[in-house]
Amino acid sequence: MNSAKGLFITIEGPEGAGKSTQLQMLRNYIESQGKECVVTREPGGTPVAEQLRMLIKHHNGDEPIYDETELLLIEAARAQHVKHLIAPALKRGAVVLCDRFYDSTTAYQGYARCMDLEVLHQLNCFAVNGCHPDLTILLDIDPEKGFNRTAEREETLGEHDRFELENLEFHKAVREGFLEIAITEPERVKVVSASDTPENVHLKIRELLINAF
Ligand SMILES: Nc1ncnc2c1ncn2[C@@H]1O[C@H](COP(=O)(O)OP(=O)(O)O)[C@@H](O)[C@H]1O
Ligand SMILES: [Mg+2]
Repeated sequence: MNSAKGLFITIEGPEGAGKSTQLQMLRNYIESQGKECVVTREPGGTPVAEQLRMLIKHHNGDEPIYDETELLLIEAARAQHVKHLIAPALKRGAVVLCDRFYDSTTAYQGYARCMDLEVLHQLNCFAVNGCHPDLTILLDIDPEKGFNRTAEREETLGEHDRFELENLEFHKAVREGFLEIAITEPERVKVVSASDTPENVHLKIRELLINAF
């Protein structure tokens, strides 16, 4: 538990797992319990961090963004997000629901881009400054199934971001990374199969929250 009086819940998983869908359902449930609920996302969540998000996800000029640069931009966005939005919300007692957080850095930059896991751990801890999730819901799905789900959604949105353009091997490594994190931190990270209907996935998530508030 972090020291703040609110509840900090993060939701992780590959593209198309249903994170955004589940966050909205969870927000409705939490608000129906009379709690303040702040829904946010990474990278981003504040105006400054959202500017970094554009660079991180959609940069496509001649000059590449190198792995080290990408990592530091993500951590910069995270530090800004935690200090400006998440920590104050937790301090006043809100439930904060965050779409991706530092486990995505471990999975994408660590397991898929093969950057040093210990360095990532240090940078994650530095960026969050003690503000760790109380509960992390890992929506697990085969990456190919996730892609199929997003195909329709992305047509309406237009272009794919830099991560979606990576190959299937990359996304399989991301999934393995997430599952490794869940094995390493079973108290915090709970795996929920994302293959069921949205309603059934939501009910499983609610079970995880039974004693939370
Ligand atoms: N459990 C589910 N079963 C089938 N389709 C789903 C499910 N959850 C979400 N979807 C659909 O799949 C697509 C991706 O869901 P989304 O919540 O945007 O995933 P994410 O935020 O993890 O990328 C959306 O079109 C959504 O309506
Ligand atoms: Mg989403």
